[in-house]
Amino acid sequence: METIRDMEPPPHIVGIQHFVDYKSVDEILKSKDFRQGSHQESQPFFGGSLLTIDHGEHFDRRRLEAPLFRKEALEYYEREELLPLIAKSLEECERNRGEDGVVRADLCLLVRNMLARISAVTTGIDGVDTPERTDAFRTYVEQLGTGATVEWSTEDHGEVINRILKIRDGFVEEFYGPSVERRRELITAFQAGDISEDELPRDLLTLMYLHWNEDWDDELPLREATLYTVASSQTTTHAVPHMMMHLHEWFEAHPEDYEKRFDREFLKRAGHEAIRLHLPSPALLRIALKDVVLSDGTEIAEGERVACLFTPANRDTSVFGEDAKSFDPYREADGVKPWGFAFGGGEHTCIGRTLVTGLSARTDGDEGTDGTLVNIALALFEAGIELDPTEMPAFTELSYHDAYGTFPVILRNL
Ligand code: HEM
Repeated sequence: METIRDMEPPPHIVGIQHFVDYKSVDEILKSKDFRQGSHQESQPFFGGSLLTIDHGEHFDRRRLEAPLFRKEALEYYEREELLPLIAKSLEECERNRGEDGVVRADLCLLVRNMLARISAVTTGIDGVDTPERTDAFRTYVEQLGTGATVEWSTEDHGEVINRILKIRDGFVEEFYGPSVERRRELITAFQAGDISEDELPRDLLTLMYLHWNEDWDDELPLREATLYTVASSQTTTHAVPHMMMHLHEWFEAHPEDYEKRFDREFLKRAGHEAIRLHLPSPALLRIALKDVVLSDGTEIAEGERVACLFTPANRDTSVFGEDAKSFDPYREADGVKPWGFAFGGGEHTCIGRTLVTGLSARTDGDEGTDGTLVNIALALFEAGIELDPTEMPAFTELSYHDAYGTFPVILRNL
């Protein structure tokens, strides 16, 4: 099957100026003359969240949330949360052992379960512990993700928004409400001197309620939590199957590299290539705050919405070489990030990037982190992952996302 596709731009950006080369996309994303232009329709889910605010307000919010991604926080998440959660999710696959003794799983579902738990921990949602509760939480996050990315939906947009708002009420009742209540009680105890700051959870909701800003409306933490749960899970869940498919193809073509499936440095590079080639959305949209002339002379009028098509920009041969459209874990691209614009650029650059790619300090030892991509891929190879020869992976048809919908695998060592 063709694993690196040219994606059609979705209908709602047809007719607006497109930028497809690395240099223009970089210039627009870094420019202060633009503001966020995505998520115009998904305001009920993301409105006022970090992703949709700009400049001064954005700077203050980003600074407030930065402690979640400091080195010690990342080390804590990786060792205390991520690694046990990966192991637990794999153990649960044993329940799917067939009569032939073989454990089969759908990689998309497995990774979605792993990531649901990780995103619950960083956001501050309690009780995502049993398989049933994880399933329920994951389903909510997926639905919220559909609402939050309604711009890319192939269904009627108004109907999607109304349907998902009703579903969100269930999420609030079952997960969000009780989690907020517990955090507010802990913060009250901390402020009364009954517990120390160390005893407070390390997550987004605690941070927001601890540093409450009178300008916020009561539902802002819900929308910020929606952003975090969606942004942290749906991106990585799409990346892992791509990464595993490319590695499968790479090892078929380069059997001498097969032993590198346990080599963290190799896996890290493979992860970077997978996310460079497969972006989490079809485009990053921006709106010009004034008349702008780009360095190549292109004119953009004040108020004009433009689309940065970061998939072609990430395959720009002038930056990534003649074979930019292929997967090569040994690629060297000078002067640019190996993942290109996979995490965006400029002020909205992904705040969670280090959770995914790890802190570059470490490739072994106790210092730093490797990130979710390497840790998940390594655990899958240790579990003996193989494609299921009876059923090939298939891409999703439910949206314009470049993502697998099903990915049947065998976990040979479980
Ligand atoms: C493979 C994984 C990921 C990819 C490819 C990815 C990609 C992106 C991209 C492209 C943006 C910029 C959007 C824009 O400019 O309009 C972004 C922003 C963001 N991401 Fe990620 N992301 C990933 C994982 C995560 C994780 C794990 C978190 C969790 C904590 C996260 C949280 C966010 C947030 C909160 C923003 C908004 C930042 C801002 O506006 O300042 N992402 N991400």
